[in-house]
Amino acid sequence: MGQRVDLPKHLNPVDQEFINLLKHELGSSFFVEGDLSPFGRDETEDLLFVPDVVVRPQHPEQVAQLLKLCHHHRISVTPRGAGTGLSGGALPVTGGVVLDLSRMNRILNIDTDNMQVTVEPGCITEEIQKAVANHGLYYPPDPSSRGSCTIGGNIAHGAGGPHAVKYGTTRDYVLNLQVALASGELIWTGASVLKYATGYNLTQLMVGSEGSLGVVTRAVLRLIPQPTHTLLMLLPFPSLESACAAVTEVFRLGITPSALEFMERDALELVSAYLNRDIHIPDVVQAHLLIELDGSNIDLLQQEAAHIFDALQHRTVTEILLAQTAGEQQQLWQLRRQVAHAVRAASVYKEEDTVVPRAALPQLIGKVKELGNEFGFKSVCYGHAGDGNVHVNILKGDLNDEQWNGVVQEGIRAVFREVAALGGTLSGEHGVGWVQQTYMRDVVGETQRQLMRGIKTVFDPRGILNPCKIFSSHAE
Ligand code: LAC
Ligand code: ZN
Repeated sequence: MGQRVDLPKHLNPVDQEFINLLKHELGSSFFVEGDLSPFGRDETEDLLFVPDVVVRPQHPEQVAQLLKLCHHHRISVTPRGAGTGLSGGALPVTGGVVLDLSRMNRILNIDTDNMQVTVEPGCITEEIQKAVANHGLYYPPDPSSRGSCTIGGNIAHGAGGPHAVKYGTTRDYVLNLQVALASGELIWTGASVLKYATGYNLTQLMVGSEGSLGVVTRAVLRLIPQPTHTLLMLLPFPSLESACAAVTEVFRLGITPSALEFMERDALELVSAYLNRDIHIPDVVQAHLLIELDGSNIDLLQQEAAHIFDALQHRTVTEILLAQTAGEQQQLWQLRRQVAHAVRAASVYKEEDTVVPRAALPQLIGKVKELGNEFGFKSVCYGHAGDGNVHVNILKGDLNDEQWNGVVQEGIRAVFREVAALGGTLSGEHGVGWVQQTYMRDVVGETQRQLMRGIKTVFDPRGILNPCKIFSSHAE
């Protein structure tokens, strides 16, 4: 079952002959048999597009060979990591081949002298973090799904996470990539060096290209020394706007927190119910900021925490909570990291990954709530306030299908227009994928989209790589 879009004219359907050819060329043990529906989903809403074939290669050469065959026969290929994406990037919307990279999951080399790690795309992000931590090294990008998402997916979407505010996103740690091209060639995009001024930066072009230009088969990542101490505090605010306004004040103190996260009251209520945690939130509290400080000097961190307390006390209501132990820190982080799952469990919903210049956050949140009143939707907002990146979750709740369609067609478009008017954009870290491409025209100009389209055509002239993502169709 599941859905499928009409096959774009430039693509061919998969037939048994093609499947036989693939199995003959790549080895039949690399194909998934039986029910393929688990490969037709990711974590984006409840969408399902069942593919015709699922290949699970083990070597870069097999990936390249697969792309060459699909290019020759004009068959679509949708690369897939762990399927934790929230923009539908891994959904095989035209059917065709799903290229599951989860079997290519080795950490190939940890180079402690150069502070680099070389990994295969199917490595789980947290496994990389743990492996390098054994050498006193740190790989900071940590999406909430870090325990299950793969580095290949993180690279494909330019994933962020709570620590991006101090350390940057995946993009800032990718030094060099081995990529399989649609032509069947395997290339390295650059050099594994810390500076790069040698023509166009193909490495950075690949990051965030959502598997539409090539398939990453190896990645060299930059590492930094592991911080030794962290402090974590939860600050309660009487309104969403006051919590957002406090964000700018923290940075004006000259402090860069290692995380600065926002959760509106409903987000905390949903997640505490979802995790069966009995948390009493006083009526006066409408939003929280979770602020983490990290470094190697605990005295300095305590001074910074005191500084933040003093500066923000006039805005907060009720007690500021400082986690006293590593266990308490973990519990607070669990609440924050599970919000997406809690929302998903509560209602049919649409997740928008809005990002605006940080100081425009109070206006963004105000506008989202105003539009909610105008279009009749309820929203739950949370996310990476320190980056100006807020996940706006729009809930179907009690709306009937017709009302919900109106919200999806017009309400969400209105949100993105406000985001653009505030100088922001469609996605900070989840990507455009399948579900956001319909809003691309609202935030990205025609000329810019045509430049992107031109790049796509150079890398993928037959439009086989992850079709209908970022752009609506090959012919757009
Ligand atoms: C988070 C994911 C949804 O921030 O990006 O929890
Ligand atoms: Zn996020």
